[in-house]
Amino acid sequence: MSEQIRPPAYSPISKWIHWITALCVLGIIPGGILMTHMEEGPLQDQIFDMHRSFGVLVFVLALVRVMARKMFGTPAPHDSLKPFERRASVAVHHSLLALLFVMPLLGWLMTSAYRVDVSVFGLFTLPHLMPKSEPVYDALSAAHGWLGYLMAALILSHIGAAIMHTFIKRDGVLQRMLPTSGD
Ligand code: HEM
Repeated sequence: MSEQIRPPAYSPISKWIHWITALCVLGIIPGGILMTHMEEGPLQDQIFDMHRSFGVLVFVLALVRVMARKMFGTPAPHDSLKPFERRASVAVHHSLLALLFVMPLLGWLMTSAYRVDVSVFGLFTLPHLMPKSEPVYDALSAAHGWLGYLMAALILSHIGAAIMHTFIKRDGVLQRMLPTSGD
């Protein structure tokens, strides 16, 4: 959709996907940190399974989100945003969107390199994307870990901006993403 004909509001599907993705990622990141720092055992295996399954779900939701953006467009930045805030919010939103694809793909690739099956909620198993390789696993695992922490930092700044707009500026920026709002 071109810049000139941007819709006045986010589509309902974009709003719902935003909040479902937010819930998933707010479980996936602490779960990922917890599972790598806990004792081996059945509980750790379960958290690994949930981490991978919800990670795959996030990837599918990101695909649907991009399709919804193409079909319905996205509203122009809120009027209250200064030029600097517009640039910062676009940079954070695009980085987070890219990470919603990159993180699951890195997770899938590294799990393939480690030769562990990725079972998605016990429903089906993903194919392996590459042969077993310890050095490749080590490199991908480091990238997955560091980008995970970068994503956590971006999410904290995103939540901080939402809190600032809601309670300090009171300009209705957060309301635009609420499924109950019409704009
Ligand atoms: C949005 C999606 C995802 C996010 C934000 C995410 C984030 C993270 C984070 C923060 C960690 C902890 C890193 C550390 O403390 O070193 C982690 C670990 C891990 N993640 Fe993910 N992850 C995602 C998707 C996936 C997927 C789809 C898979 C597999 C199919 C996966 C497999 C793993 C594995 C196996 C670990 C353990 C650490 C390792 O072996 O290096 N992740 N993830």
